[in-house]
Amino acid sequence: MIAHRQGKTRLAGVGHDLCGAPELVAERGCMLGGTIHLLESVTSTSDEAKRGAREGAAHGTTWVAERQTAGRGRQGRSWTSTPGESLLFSVLARLACPASCLPPIALVAGLAVRDAVARALPGVDVLTKWPNDVLVGGRKVAGVLVEAITVGVRVEAVVVGVGINVHTRVFPADIEERATSIALASPSVPPDRATILADVLAQLDRDLHIVVGRGLSLVRARLEAGDALKGSRVRSESGDEGVASGIDDEGRLLVRRDDGVLARWSAGEVHLVRGLG
Ligand code: BTN
Repeated sequence: MIAHRQGKTRLAGVGHDLCGAPELVAERGCMLGGTIHLLESVTSTSDEAKRGAREGAAHGTTWVAERQTAGRGRQGRSWTSTPGESLLFSVLARLACPASCLPPIALVAGLAVRDAVARALPGVDVLTKWPNDVLVGGRKVAGVLVEAITVGVRVEAVVVGVGINVHTRVFPADIEERATSIALASPSVPPDRATILADVLAQLDRDLHIVVGRGLSLVRARLEAGDALKGSRVRSESGDEGVASGIDDEGRLLVRRDDGVLARWSAGEVHLVRGLG
């Protein structure tokens, strides 16, 4: 394991474009990333963050790894990546809030990732597919998994886990048609993972405070500007269909059904119905 605390770095096993991350994040002066653990191999950075939470790690502590042996995604899926090619990290945010804050937190985490990916890909359209998949050219470039640490019904902290495909040029056959990377979207500019990490943490730092304090209203324009689904025909896992019509104040997807009713979908995977709507 490689650990970094401010002012003390051991970096064997970590790619050169990630080594400068702690210093770069410190320059941004935000609370997230105040301590960064750079790790060579873990089961999941979110496992590390949850253990850190139990052991008293401070708000903002971040675990970054070159390799995950049991990376996980939303909806109980696994998250696989070739060692050294992705930006894989989890940040512990000690936020006391009701459970109703979780969907807005998941949305702004996706926004922070989208904005950071967009900065790494000038001139490229980078969109968010509700709730927080990040897409380039209709393919997934990044995913976000928010897990809550609760006491009773209160959320005491969240672990925001982020996986961004950065250097990958060849994906496994089962995802190659759905996945892309920053390197594939912009072959001429070598992506720098430290900068992307610093950008995500700085934006997330600002947005978490906004949504926990004031809800989604102040980030609504940004959410709508990069909404990959709006105006498109969508289908839920259970077969419900309609036209995606934005996101409500609780973070639910608004879907106009064919009978005219505005439905609010709060969980699950949403698929675009290609060629219609
Ligand atoms: C998804 O789109 O399903 C969410 C994927 C989240 C993957 C990241 S990689 C870093 C962190 N550790 C994990 O095990 N999962 C998240």
